[in-house]
Amino acid sequence: MKRFYLSLFMCLGLSGSLMAQTNEVLISTENTSLLLDAPMGGVPKIMYYGARINENEAKQIEENGLSYGKEAYPVFGINCVTEPALMVSHADGNMSLDMEITGIKEEKTNDATLYTITLKDKVYPFTVDLVYKAYDNSDVIELWSEIAHQEKKSVTLKQYASGYMPIRRGDVWMSHLHGDWAAEGEVTTEPVTPGMKIIKNKDGARNSHTDHAEIMFSLDGRPQENSGQVIGAALCWNGNYKLRVDTDNNRYHHFFAGINEEASDYKLEPKEIFVTPELAFTYSPEGLSGVSRNFHKWARNSKLYAGTKQRDILLNSWEGVYFDINEAGMDQMMEDIASMGGELFVMDDGWFGDKYPRKNDSSSLGDWMVDTEKLPNGVPGLVKTAQKHGIKFGIWIEPEMTNTVSELYEKYPDWIISQSNRPLAPGRGGTQLVLDVSNPKVQDFIFKVVDDLMTENPEIDYIKWDANMYIANYGSHYLTADKQSHLYVDYHKGLMDVMKRIRLKYPDLVIQACASGGGRANYGILPYFDEFWVSDNTDALQRVYMQWGTSYFFPAVAMGSHVSATKNHQTGRIMPLKFRFDVAMSGRLGMEIQPKDMTADEKEFARKAIASYKNIRPVVQQGDLYRLISPYDKKGVASLMYVSPDKDQAVFYAYKMEHFVNQVIPRFRMAGLNPDKQYRLTELNVEGEPIDLNGKVISGAVLMNEGIELPLRTEYASRVIELNSID
Ligand code: DGJ
Repeated sequence: MKRFYLSLFMCLGLSGSLMAQTNEVLISTENTSLLLDAPMGGVPKIMYYGARINENEAKQIEENGLSYGKEAYPVFGINCVTEPALMVSHADGNMSLDMEITGIKEEKTNDATLYTITLKDKVYPFTVDLVYKAYDNSDVIELWSEIAHQEKKSVTLKQYASGYMPIRRGDVWMSHLHGDWAAEGEVTTEPVTPGMKIIKNKDGARNSHTDHAEIMFSLDGRPQENSGQVIGAALCWNGNYKLRVDTDNNRYHHFFAGINEEASDYKLEPKEIFVTPELAFTYSPEGLSGVSRNFHKWARNSKLYAGTKQRDILLNSWEGVYFDINEAGMDQMMEDIASMGGELFVMDDGWFGDKYPRKNDSSSLGDWMVDTEKLPNGVPGLVKTAQKHGIKFGIWIEPEMTNTVSELYEKYPDWIISQSNRPLAPGRGGTQLVLDVSNPKVQDFIFKVVDDLMTENPEIDYIKWDANMYIANYGSHYLTADKQSHLYVDYHKGLMDVMKRIRLKYPDLVIQACASGGGRANYGILPYFDEFWVSDNTDALQRVYMQWGTSYFFPAVAMGSHVSATKNHQTGRIMPLKFRFDVAMSGRLGMEIQPKDMTADEKEFARKAIASYKNIRPVVQQGDLYRLISPYDKKGVASLMYVSPDKDQAVFYAYKMEHFVNQVIPRFRMAGLNPDKQYRLTELNVEGEPIDLNGKVISGAVLMNEGIELPLRTEYASRVIELNSID
């Protein structure tokens, strides 16, 4: 039989055309390929996913029995035994699906090629478009489904995963993140064993405090940072999710990811289209770090808001003054951060409330008017003060929330997620409640919170957008009785609609996604946010672990990383300022401290560190990450580096994690450099004696093959080295 192969190269001229005779669809990025078998009238199958292949190799894989041959989007009803991606209940109550391919389409967008495979049920007017998006400028292929029907009444979606991927059995391990408030992003590494592993979230409003909606599969045994084949997956959704890894026999692991269907039956009306969130896949033969680099590149180029824009160095007021906001205090903090070379000041919680001024966390959310007792000259006064100090100004809001003690709650009790016939179960401060963002009036309100602030103060440069409560008191006063189960989904669809409006009007505003720390580190929300707050835990030692894990999926440019006080407010640990800076400088550097409590020497150290960060900022924020020695391996040290795309500049970090006499510390073998280039090593943030290698020139080959030894003679010793090619 003659086979027709679609490929990125062959089909650029076929935009929008229907490929009636197509059987195999070869979807490729620069270094990866996904091969589908898609016969008209048949069922789409995943045949291969991995390193890029050409048409001839695709044919060889197919014809020699090397392919997977697994249904690309398994549906429930005829096959009832294995896990489905899609399960529905039709208008007549029938629960079966039996789909066949009725069309295949390919379109070119500005940064990707989209392949759409249309499936239609053989009996019901029910269709699913499976969409595959191959990016031009990163090795990521996203997939999702678009579900629609023309039945007489609504069809209930009972399970609606975004996609599926078979993974051959062998010595497969998975790496994913779990944790808690103040302990986000902890790496968990485990072999994939028979049975089903579920990674899920049911918070409702945020989704990455505990487990994350991203995962990596190491195909060659125990995960290695810089070797071995790895598949990475990220579900781009800010709400409840479910990742399923099902191993039902000895041949394949079956990976599904999508919106968590629990308490979320979705009644789809005739002609309505339900679009599932994108599920992004990448593959690398260069270990976990390779997959991270692929995700980072995709994020910076396509997925994170303004991902290639340089981020400012800021001071945030939270750990410095908490709720104790006043004009003189803000002026002093702005003056201090400006004098240390910072570029932006962010006033955190505590600035608002009229009838109920915000003195602590038990009131005022929703009343976004300035507390004139604290700030007689309002936000415009603070903006002027920032201008006087030559820095930018940012402000904290938490617009999806309210407190029972607020004017908003008094005025609009039906805007709250709650049940009319039960007492409220409030959250933070004993009074916090979540607004029903599925309600368009609430969406308008949230938009107006930002719009009013920006209209009064167009100079506001940055918004820290917080979300400190999960969905409790499940119930919407807006959704009809038969659609109460839409709340978990429609909350986020509503929130994304608001964000689209905000971005349309305020494209240059920097917005941080904060949610009691790192509750919103996900690719569902990041298309609208410039960065996220990694954690409320600013302890530099624990941050090495948290930032290590978070970097599996998210680039440094998105990771808010702040120098805070010693002893640390969350752990009570005492750590040198140098260690605190050296850790924060591996992400988007900021400070979260009361500068007036710093000594003159400390301020001078901070000034120099900030100046150094400005030099390395392009490579940290836009370079390729190579994780070298994991803190999780308990070798006494942790180490990582960033390398610029042209490999002319790099920054290397080493942290002493624990200290013992006669301890064996591994050599630091660098990675990602050009072996043929000569690099000058310059130590940054030097305190005391610089390393012997300071100023020396060493080839990339020697740095990577032989490695270097470093003096790290005390607990919390650390070294940062800038490398510049002299060729
Ligand atoms: C939780 C955030 O994570 C903190 O950084 C701070 O903004 C507080 N909320 C303010 O209430």
